[in-house]
Amino acid sequence: MKKLEVFGVTKLKGQIIISGSKNASLPILAATLLSNKKISLTNLPRVKDIETMLLLLKSLGSIIKDNKKVITIKNNKQANFFASYGLVKTMRAGILVLGPLLAKFGKAKVSLPGGCAIGTRPVDIHLKALSKLGVKYKIIQGYVYASAPQGLIGANIRFSKISVGATENLIIAASLAKGKTILSNCAIEPEIKDLVIFLNKMGCNVKWIKKRTVKIEGVTKINELNYEVMPDRIEAGTYLIAAALTEGNLRIKGIDSKIIKTEINVLKKIGAKIVQRKNEIIIQGSKKIKNINIRTAPYPGFPTDLQAQMMVLLCKASKKSYIREEIFENRFMHVAELNRMGAKISINGNKATIEGNIKFEAAELMATDLRASVSLILAALVSKGKSVINRIYHLDRGYENIEKKMKKIGAKIKRVN
Ligand code: UD1
Repeated sequence: MKKLEVFGVTKLKGQIIISGSKNASLPILAATLLSNKKISLTNLPRVKDIETMLLLLKSLGSIIKDNKKVITIKNNKQANFFASYGLVKTMRAGILVLGPLLAKFGKAKVSLPGGCAIGTRPVDIHLKALSKLGVKYKIIQGYVYASAPQGLIGANIRFSKISVGATENLIIAASLAKGKTILSNCAIEPEIKDLVIFLNKMGCNVKWIKKRTVKIEGVTKINELNYEVMPDRIEAGTYLIAAALTEGNLRIKGIDSKIIKTEINVLKKIGAKIVQRKNEIIIQGSKKIKNINIRTAPYPGFPTDLQAQMMVLLCKASKKSYIREEIFENRFMHVAELNRMGAKISINGNKATIEGNIKFEAAELMATDLRASVSLILAALVSKGKSVINRIYHLDRGYENIEKKMKKIGAKIKRVN
């Protein structure tokens, strides 16, 4: 199994170009199922989750041409309606094909994604909302068997809890439903806004009418289109934190700082110097890192996908900090590994207490999920000596060319078998 070796201590310096957003690409790829016209997508990050979604689309009958820079997708009238456990188990976003299959064909059999390291991650909100659009479903042996005998019919739906995936599934499904759908208490992550822009360019009729309310008029005609996916704000946030942590100096290109205002404010508060320009952010980490308390929250709050990386940074703060994880119940898997490196983090329920002034020590480590994996790389960058990170397949699910990018800015990092 592949491992990463990281040699510290390093100060990161130079330029990073941000890849396309994984979390925007996944729902956009799922939404291509609505169409029989040619769709060309650019700026998809070439990471494992995207390859898995492309395999899933192929298994559903999509014809995909991939010249690495542009992916062209075309669906035939005849499709399969079956998303297998084999493809959905590694990537929870597989559930996003449920909405478009039901909207287009009125039936689907999609594997339940199951739990994962960061929590139970149910899909009850997706299913409850789809049933309001006229979907009947049964869960048998780990599969959702769903059908919409009368076709999907627009409805007013208020989500009981803010969910990124459920908001996406429902917006996509309602785009071909008969009549009008109003979804309220929606997630408003920039990736969802990107999905809506994509859908509207495809001929759908989706409008934000209040901050967390969206109106969808079902359409019958879908257009051909070329679409460039937005940049990855979590990748950008990870490199910004890496710069602050290593007292580095990075120019992060290809991202509009407006979509990561919260993260930038937090980094300014802890002492990093940040210059925001059109489509680039320049960051200079400071010697002294100030402590801060953070609570993860749906956008525009602080993202749970940057919680692990932020925790590493706060281990270096001059005083104690606290992080409350409000999105996932078990997203502290990195803590045990960080503590093995010398961190002093204690967990009480969803609250982590992080002692500052830590001198990390290199160690052999185990990655547990995507963002936890990258947090271990960050800690290894500021640990003297060689750290070895095992199970890096998690990392490959979501960070494009991470070793190449890290090496370019001065990290000593190597993939070994
Ligand atoms: C998406 C992101 C993920 C990010 C998360 C929160 C993608 C591909 N993934 O995941 O990187 O960490 O948003 O920002 O975009 N929940 C239920 N029932 C449901 C659905 C969700 O109880 O039917 C719960 C979840 O267990 C979790 C919370 O709601 O506690 C938020 O989950 P959700 O926003 O749905 O996350 P994902 O869409 O899976």
